[in-house]
Parts: sequence; C-alpha cells; structure tokens
Amino acid sequence: DWTTSNVIEEQVDRIREQVGSDRVICGLSGGVDSAVAAALVQRAVGDQLTCVFVDHGLLREGEAEQVERDFVAATGVRLHVAREADRFLGALAGVTDPETKRKIIGREFIRAFETAERDILAEASSRDERVRFLVQGTLYPDVVESGGGEGAATIKSHHNVGGLPEDVEFELIEPLRTLFKDEVRAVGAQLGLPAEIVGRQPFPGPGLGIRIIGEVTGERLALLRRADAIAREELTGAGLDTEVWQMPVVLLAEVHSVGVQGDGRSYGHPIVLRPVASEDAMTADWSRLPYDLVARISTRITNEVEGVNRVVLDVTSKPPGTIEWE
Ligand code: XMP
Repeated sequence: DWTTSNVIEEQVDRIREQVGSDRVICGLSGGVDSAVAAALVQRAVGDQLTCVFVDHGLLREGEAEQVERDFVAATGVRLHVAREADRFLGALAGVTDPETKRKIIGREFIRAFETAERDILAEASSRDERVRFLVQGTLYPDVVESGGGEGAATIKSHHNVGGLPEDVEFELIEPLRTLFKDEVRAVGAQLGLPAEIVGRQPFPGPGLGIRIIGEVTGERLALLRRADAIAREELTGAGLDTEVWQMPVVLLAEVHSVGVQGDGRSYGHPIVLRPVASEDAMTADWSRLPYDLVARISTRITNEVEGVNRVVLDVTSKPPGTIEWE
C-alpha cells in the first residue's frame, strides 16, 4: 500500500541497516532529487551524513546560493562546498560529443567527491580512513532509461547511473530508485523541505554542460546562464512554473546565425527554448506557451545577451524528441 509515510519508514530502516555506523556523503545538485535523497538519509543516520555541493561551474544563476542557504536552513545538514569549476572546464576542453561530456562530468564528480572525502575526514579529525557510502538521487525513470530496468536498452548514460569510473570506491545508496518524480516531491514535502526546493523543476546533473551544443567554454556558459535566467524569470512571472514541467534553454554554439544590427550584418548564435509538459519525463508534449510570453523572452534575450541574435521555439514531443537536446 503506497503512502509517503510508508516509503519514508521503509527507506529509513533500509538505510540504517545498510549504513551501520559508517560515514556517508551525498552530492547535492540543487535539484529536488538529491535534496530529498539527502533529507531521507539524514533522517536515517543523522550526522554520519555530510552533504557535498560541487560547484562545477555548469550551474544556473542563483543555484549555488539556493543550496548553500535555503537547503541548509531547512535541514540543518552538514555541508561541504567544493569549488571545482576549473577542474570541470579543464576536463571538458575540446569535447563536443554528448556522451563523452556526460562521462567526463560523471568522472570529475567522483574525483571531486574523493577530494571532498579527504577534506571532510581531515576537518573532523576522524579516525575513519574513508567514507564508505555515497548517496545518489537516482529515480525509477533513470534506472529504466539506463538499461537497469527489465530488458531495456541503454538509451543514455545518465551520470548518476552509468558513467561511474571503474575504480569508484564508494558503495551507493539510492533511496529513490523505485520512485517517480511526483512521489519524490511528496516524500520531500512530508520530510519538511520548503516548497521552493520540493517544487523545483528538474535540472540534469551535468547541468548547462549538456545545454551547450558544442564545446563548453567559460564564455559560452556565461552567455547561456544569462539567457536561461531571463527565460526562467519570465516563465515564473507568467505564473507557469507548475504547468511547465521544465524548460531547457539551449545554446547552439556551433551554429552561426545571421542577423542585422545597425546597418550591418552580424553573426551570433541561436538560443532554443524547450518548454515541455510531462508527468514523469518518460514522455512529454511541447508546452503551448502564450505567444506574448514567448515574444517577451525573445526580445529580452536578443537585447540583453550579447552574442545571441535569434531565439527559436522547439515544438517537438517526446518521443520522438528527448527533452534535452543532447
Ligand atoms: P531526456 O532528455 O532523456 O530527459 O528526455 C529526461 C529527463 O532527464 C533529465 N536528464 C538528465 N538528468 N543526468 C541527469 O541527472 C543526465 O545526464 C540527464 N539527461 C537528461 C532531463 O532534464 C529530463 O528531466
């Protein structure tokens, strides 16, 4: 009989049994999945858990603050912040293949955790030699799409399922493995997480790294971050945050679109808006946003973001299109 209380009780028992008296770390992405997974593990084993927030430089505007301020305020969890933007950008230099990007980001995540692990143990003057467990906010759809479900082929190596390096030293705790997104939100609310965290739209672990089609550079990230912030601000302003499941904003960094500025031609890059309606991200329909909202976003992005001279709207369902562009 499925109730959020049953799920919480069952997972808390299971986590306690699995963890014993060992130490646990959990990566926080800023998203609802990792926040709920962390809150569950904290309920089960308290201070044996330290949360690690890796600022990988692929975040959206305001995300670091949301984790460092709001999540900590809501849970009182122990937080270790790792500033690792240089490490990730260095590793991604010259890479354009999407699956390679995911693998690199997954690998660097683990490396960043390992560094964080050493720092945490040193700070705690702990006699433990290692942290044994790593919490992952893997959901049921991730398991299925990565080939973990019955007979399913590997569609995408989601960094939080596939893409782990062979020599990964942590044992995984995945308390959300059987849940869909709406169930995760219900569990989070029951655990006392604030609405801003529980109601947040999904955002992929590899972040803006897979929303730049082409090589990821600091300059392109800055540009995309600005465009994304404008789009989100307008969507929220229009009151459509719940109706729209998520709205990836994608930079076609290798496409040069021609525009006209003053009395000359200019070359810039297109930005794609990909608003979708969905129940669980397994299927999706493109959202029929009001045209005046689309117009406002387009005008603002082309006016305010240097290097972008075109905004296009993605009107593809899933299937056949995926939600993300790579
Ligand atoms: P797609 O693009 O496959 O996305 O339709 C389905 C959902 O998964 C998210 N997504 C990811 N999440 N790591 C993640 O943690 C990834 O590599 C990844 N790729 C896609 C996507 O945002 C959507 O919610």
